[in-house]
Amino acid sequence: SERTFIMVKPDGVQRGLVGEIMKRFENRGYKLVACKMCRPSQEHLEEHYRDLKSKPFFPGLITYMTSGPVVCMVWEGKEVVKMGRMMLGATNPLESNPGTIRGDFCIDVGRNICHGSDSVESGKRESSHWFKEGEIQEWKPAEFDWVYE
Ligand code: GTP
Ligand code: MG
Repeated sequence: SERTFIMVKPDGVQRGLVGEIMKRFENRGYKLVACKMCRPSQEHLEEHYRDLKSKPFFPGLITYMTSGPVVCMVWEGKEVVKMGRMMLGATNPLESNPGTIRGDFCIDVGRNICHGSDSVESGKRESSHWFKEGEIQEWKPAEFDWVYE
């Protein structure tokens, strides 16, 4: 089933929002299949954000993202890529609806506390960029048949 890569960025970790962000995905009924804290290298992040290499904000983005530990997760479930983006809110928090993670907890686009894959394809690419195969778990939550028809 579909997977998305969600990351709590250094500002989200520093601000104590890890639990809050995970809680929203858990509460929704999505399944956590991988989770770890790490301090990614500049090279690792440049590969993660390779599509943005030519943007003027790219150097600042890399500095921001390497400024502290991050929490990486893979979540699984029906349409989780699209719904994950909806739960995060618009890239620019000033355009994120209240009720979304960014819309509730941040202000600046350069400090927008979380990342989410933007397509099913990116979800696959990013999950394997951040996690080894053995770090992703296959399991069936006890509540599964109460979440899905
Ligand atoms: P991610 O989930 O982090 O990938 O965000 P996104 O998919 O909503 O946006 P995008 O991939 O286009 O940009 C990646 C990240 O770069 C954003 O989350 C921001 O942190 C940062 N970013 C994007 N646009 C700008 C900008 O105009 N200025 C600054 N300072 N940062 C930006
Ligand atoms: Mg993106």
